[in-house]
Amino acid sequence: MYRSIVVLTGAGISAESGLQTFRGAGGIWQNHRAEDLATPEAFAAEPALVQRFYNERRRQLVSGPIEPNPAHYALAKLQAGFSGTFTLVTQNVDNLHERAGSQNVLHMHGELLRMRCGGCGDSFVVEGDIELDSLCPACASVGLLRPDVVWFGEMPKHMDVIARLLGDCDLFLAVGTSGNVYPAAGFVEIAGAHAHTVEVNLEPSEVQSHFAERLYGKAGEVLPPYIEQLLK
Ligand code: OAD
Repeated sequence: MYRSIVVLTGAGISAESGLQTFRGAGGIWQNHRAEDLATPEAFAAEPALVQRFYNERRRQLVSGPIEPNPAHYALAKLQAGFSGTFTLVTQNVDNLHERAGSQNVLHMHGELLRMRCGGCGDSFVVEGDIELDSLCPACASVGLLRPDVVWFGEMPKHMDVIARLLGDCDLFLAVGTSGNVYPAAGFVEIAGAHAHTVEVNLEPSEVQSHFAERLYGKAGEVLPPYIEQLLK
């Protein structure tokens, strides 16, 4: 039985819930350039365009028919039923893990349903659109609010605690991530030095060769039975 589990999820775990992944057929980065929408430079140059992109994604999450799927629920069940240390790290900015019942999710790329003030640095829950002239609820600055997500070129969140947990885990499980974006793509190598490593993905990821065990298929179909086995 394992003592400490770290799970890393990516956009693929939310695909069966109806949210687009980033890469591959139908992915967000097929129709948009990441450099135009997901960098601090893009926000400085075209704030309206960047806000509109995130406002649309936020609206889809809040009002679209988007629900957690069996893979999200399976991870919540693992957390509830596992007696050791359990950590869920996600690159996803959606809230589907929380809606499935997961607790203390580490959103290393931030959250779509939070905004941050570039003036005072405070972060707030937001469900509606962020406008160019929105007022910061804390410091009352105008026009300095941005989605509290991590853009390319920015430091992912929670890295110190994630590094410590990766260094101590004995099972590392990656679900629905293509292994293109670091530092997350490098977690398997850190954990693999001492832990069992498992990849659950639709297809082999860019870092598939670093995993000891690989399970290919839809996360909503492959993950629940794997987790039932773990909990036995
Ligand atoms: P990607 O879109 O790069 O990869 C999603 C992976 O999920 C692919 O390998 C798919 O094959 C797989 N996949 C698709 N449907 C699946 C399903 N039903 N079950 C299991 N796997 C499935 O998404 P991420 O790896 O999460 O960052 O991307 C990492 C980061 O790049 C994102 O957080 C985002 C993006 O640009 C920023 O915006 C900073």
